[in-house]
Amino acid sequence: MRTPLVAANWKMHKTRAEATAFVEAALPQLTGLDGVEVVVCPAFTALETVGRLLAGSAVRLGAQNLHWEREGAFTGEVSAGMLAELGCTYVIVGHSERRRLFGDTDERVRRKVRAAFDAGLVPILCVGETLEERQAGQTESRVAGQVAVATADLSADEVAHLVVAYEPVWAIGTGQAATGQEANRVIGLIRQHLRHRFGPAADAVRIQYGGSVTARNAAEFFSQPEVDGALVGGASLNPHEFAAITRTARR
Ligand code: PGA
Repeated sequence: MRTPLVAANWKMHKTRAEATAFVEAALPQLTGLDGVEVVVCPAFTALETVGRLLAGSAVRLGAQNLHWEREGAFTGEVSAGMLAELGCTYVIVGHSERRRLFGDTDERVRRKVRAAFDAGLVPILCVGETLEERQAGQTESRVAGQVAVATADLSADEVAHLVVAYEPVWAIGTGQAATGQEANRVIGLIRQHLRHRFGPAADAVRIQYGGSVTARNAAEFFSQPEVDGALVGGASLNPHEFAAITRTARR
C-alpha cells in the first residue's frame, strides 16, 4: 500500500521568523503520526532554518524549485546539489505558477526532474490542465503529455520513487477545488499512463491532488482510492489547519 504524502507549499510566504513560529506550533501535532508522510516546502531563504527545526523528526524538508544544471553562470538560480546539502528530501518541479509565470516548459521540467534524481532528491512533479483545456476536453491529453515528457529520461526504479501532484490550474488558489471523484478519475488516468510506460512501478508512485485543499474538504480527496495525499498551498500556511489535513490523510 502507498503511504500518502501531504506537502505544504508555502510559495513566497514566511520569513525565517514566521517559518520558525509555524514549525514550533505544528511539529507537536505532526509528531508520531503513522500512515502519512509529511513534507514542508519553504522558500529557499527559510530552508536551512526549517531543516534545523525538523531534524530528528519524521517531517521532511522540500524545496519549491531548482535549476537543472549542477553549477554555472545562472544568476539567481539554485541547483539540486545545493538543496540536497541543505537536507532537502523533496523538490517541487513544474508547479503551474512556474510554468505560467517563469517559463518552465515541459522540456525544462524534464531536465529538472532528471537533475533532482541525479542529486538524490525526490521530485514532486506538478501537472494539470487550464480551464480552457478542460473546457476543450483536453484534460487527459494535456496531463498525460506533461507526465510523458517529464518522465522521459527515468528508469522504472526512479519512477517508483516519483511523486506526482495533479493540480488543475483552475483549482489553485481559487477556492474552487475539483471534486474528489474528478481528482480520482484524472489520477487514475495518470497512473494508467505510467503503467503503460513503466509497468508495475506505476503502482508505487504517489499521486497527490492539489488545488484549494482545506481541512474541510480534505476527507473528500483522501477517501478516494487513487489519491495519495495532497499538495497544499494556502491552507498550509496555518499550522493547525495543515496538521488537521495531515491527520485526515492517514491510511
Ligand atoms: P492552493 O495551492 O492550495 O492554495 O490552491 C496549491 C498549490 O499551488 O500547490
